[in-house]
Amino acid sequence: MHKRAILALKVLVHLLCLVPFAWLLHFYTSGALALNPDPINYITHFTGDWTLYLLLACLAITPIRRLSPKIGWLIRFRRLVGLYAFFYATLHLSTYVFLFSGYDLPTALTNLRAGHPGELVTQWKQVWPNIFDDLLKRRFIQVGLFAWLLLFLLAITSPAFMLRAMGGKNWSRLHSLIYVAAIAAVIHFWWLVKAGVRTPWKATAILAILLLARVVYAALKNHRKSKASPARAAA
Ligand code: HEM
Repeated sequence: MHKRAILALKVLVHLLCLVPFAWLLHFYTSGALALNPDPINYITHFTGDWTLYLLLACLAITPIRRLSPKIGWLIRFRRLVGLYAFFYATLHLSTYVFLFSGYDLPTALTNLRAGHPGELVTQWKQVWPNIFDDLLKRRFIQVGLFAWLLLFLLAITSPAFMLRAMGGKNWSRLHSLIYVAAIAAVIHFWWLVKAGVRTPWKATAILAILLLARVVYAALKNHRKSKASPARAAA
């Protein structure tokens, strides 16, 4: 594929990945969010959903591009989509810390503008015991945070210089942790819904198919290798 076409597609992927964020900003600035009966809950769920969609989209790129050598270029978008998954995961975590937990963000920002940045810390001191308590008591928060930490690790090691510093094999091994992050994210989803609610089943089914595709591909690769090696030895 031409360099120009790749560049145009990259711009398109950036725009597509930013649509949910732009929608959220528009929702907030137009005042429509205030009309929502539970705006904080809405933002938490919205950002959580988009983290999961992008995480699954990122994992889907590898098996899809293996379907045909003609679409091998798709791999160039995996890192980008993965970084957007991290972006939405961080928005989701920030929503939890700065809105869900009772942090009075408007007061903190008003004080900041008035030249009292200390209020940011005062507010944090008020909410952190609740957050800590949540972290100890709620297993869905623990597994969610674990998924976020993994995505953070992958995001900071994603630049090309990190790949060079770590070596291709180590880097690939580390980055296969994205599957662990996705499994943790789906568990997070199951653990937060009420008993009997089956909403996370679609994400679970997609993830199961993607994991199966990986196992099947690895088995086929091993099979091809073992077939090729006696022939190579004979040659
Ligand atoms: C990769 C990381 C994560 C993913 C993919 C994720 C995904 C989700 C999803 C899909 C939902 C439910 C959305 C819906 O019902 O439509 C959700 C809800 C939620 N998540 Fe996460 N999450 C992640 C990390 C976190 C972290 C780190 C925290 C906080 C420390 C967190 C806190 C919450 C909370 C409080 C809810 C709402 C629970 C409720 O409705 O009672 N999540 N998340």
